[in-house]
Parts: sequence; C-alpha cells; structure tokens
Amino acid sequence: MNLPIRPRRNRQSPAIRDLVRETDLSPGHLIYPLFLQDGNENTPIDAMPGCQRWCVEDLVKEAGEAHALGVPAVVLFPRIPDELKTRGAEECHNDDGLVPRAIRALKAAHPTLCVITDVALDPYNSDGHDGLVSDDGRILNDETVTVLCHQALCHARAGADIVAPSDMMDGRVASLREALDNARFTGVSIMSYTAKYASAYYGPFRGALDSAPKAGDKKTYQMDAANSREALREAMLDEAEGADILMVKPAGPYLDIISKLRAATSLPIAAYQVSGEYLMIKAAAASGWLDEEKVMLESLLGIRRAGADMILTYFARRVAEKVA
Ligand code: PBG
Repeated sequence: MNLPIRPRRNRQSPAIRDLVRETDLSPGHLIYPLFLQDGNENTPIDAMPGCQRWCVEDLVKEAGEAHALGVPAVVLFPRIPDELKTRGAEECHNDDGLVPRAIRALKAAHPTLCVITDVALDPYNSDGHDGLVSDDGRILNDETVTVLCHQALCHARAGADIVAPSDMMDGRVASLREALDNARFTGVSIMSYTAKYASAYYGPFRGALDSAPKAGDKKTYQMDAANSREALREAMLDEAEGADILMVKPAGPYLDIISKLRAATSLPIAAYQVSGEYLMIKAAAASGWLDEEKVMLESLLGIRRAGADMILTYFARRVAEKVA
C-alpha cells in the first residue's frame, strides 16, 4: 500500500509507546475509602470481597501501609451501631464518636496522610437517609444543612484535612464554607459530591454499613441517571459556593459527566469508583472471566483519561502495590 501516514509507527515498541502515552495512573492520584467500626476486631465485608470494616487500631495500620506505598489520602466511612442511630442523627457531631477518634489516631500516627471525611447523615440516621426526614416522609433540606455544618465542624476539630459532603442537599457547600471559616478552619477543604447520581451501584456499600434507607429511595436528592446538563448546573453552583474539588459518582458509567465537568471548570475533579463497580470486577474475576489486575488498572486509567485528577477506589492499595 502507498500509505505515508501509518499510526501504527507510534505503537511499534514499548519505548515509543512510553513516549506517546497521554495519561498515567499513579498511587498519587488515588484516595482509599476505608470502612471502620468500634471495638477491637476487623470484620470482612461479605458483599465486598477484599474489604473490611476496620477497628481504629488496624485502620491506622492499613492507612499507614497504603500511605507508605504512595497513596496520599483516605476517606472514612463509619458503621454506627443501631442503638446510636436517631432521627436527628446527633451522633454525627459527637466529638468522642468513632470518626473523630479515628481522625485523631490517623493524624497522630501519620501526619502527612490527608484525611477526608464523608459529610452526610445516613450512617447516623435511624431513617437511613442522607438528610433528616419529616413525619410525613419528606427529606428536609435546610434543617439537614444545619446538622451537616455541626458534623463538618466536629471533623475539623478532630483534624480532618478535607470534608466531603455526599448528601446532595441544596446550598450545603456555601453553608459549610461559612461555618468552617467562622470557626477559623479556613484551611479545611471542601470536596463536594457535585454530581452524585441515584445509582444502583451503591448497593454493596449500603450493605457494608447497614445504611440503606428504611423507606423510599434517594431520588429527591441524588441525581437522575438520565441527566447531564443538571450536573453542569450543580458544578457551577458548587464552584460559586466555594468548593475546592468537585466529584462525580459513580465513575465508570458516568465518564461523559467527568469529561464535561473537566471542560467546564478549572477546579480539580475527583471521581468515585463505587462499590458496585468494584464488585463487578471482583465477581467477574472470581469466576475466572476477567483478569482482575488488568481490568482494575484499565478501569482506573479510563477514569483518568476522561478527566479525573483523582479517583476514590477500593483498589487503591492494590494499585499502589502494583505500580509503585
Ligand atoms: C452516602 C454515601 C454512599 C456512598 C458514599 N457515601 C451511598 C449512598 O449514597 O447511598 C457510596 C459509595 C459506594 O457505593 O462505594 N452518603
């Protein structure tokens, strides 16, 4: 053939492929979500093979090992016993509660580790929703935001570096920023779950924390999977309200959203490879149908290529062990 242009020339050796590679995945891009519980024991999570609910002591160890491999940050998800769950979710701002104790232990043992906390009421709320629920079953926006501010301040007092509101209430970023600044926590960042979809991919996570809603679903606050312009609207609001980092969640099925937000804002973009995405890979690999390690790396590289600066993934430690 008379072909002056041959794209395959740029793929012909590992050396040339290294030179032309556009995207990379390194441990420095990863945030490690960790589940925790009270007591001295770790409990493997049946629905999420490879994940455990850690007691604080071993959480500190696991986080430290991941950090030593180059993972800069962890995000904490507590399992709260039923007897501490209330309709007002008061336990979420108890300074002696599980999350503040874990933050203090993590920061004492690993001062350079970035500790991120989830700000939402679902683990603490006897209704299982991210917001307060009225007697007639409505999710109360403004009342919830007040409690979220107490929760974020509690995390900041314990030493959290970043608070990550995952509740999708309106106006919470501005309120959190104001509450943090008024308490002189001007250095605490806000990573906003900006485009968090009402997704069936969260199923295993809710099982892990026993945090599924008791009634109804989350569709009056989390976004409709059919919408993308709405994600841009949320992004513009979060940016104007003072968010430091915008998040898209889930990640793999929403790469178009990551890419659109990347083009629309200069803020850093995070993406959350959620429990269901993790589990699909684990399940297919357990059946011998997919190569777990290769698909893990490819799924994360795809999320980076779409425009995510950082990725929350249950594979964080595994990736760090592999590519460090
Ligand atoms: C709740 C929260 C959820 C996840 C992170 N924070 C679940 C939900 O919204 O119901 C899901 C994470 C995952 O599935 O891995 N505030």
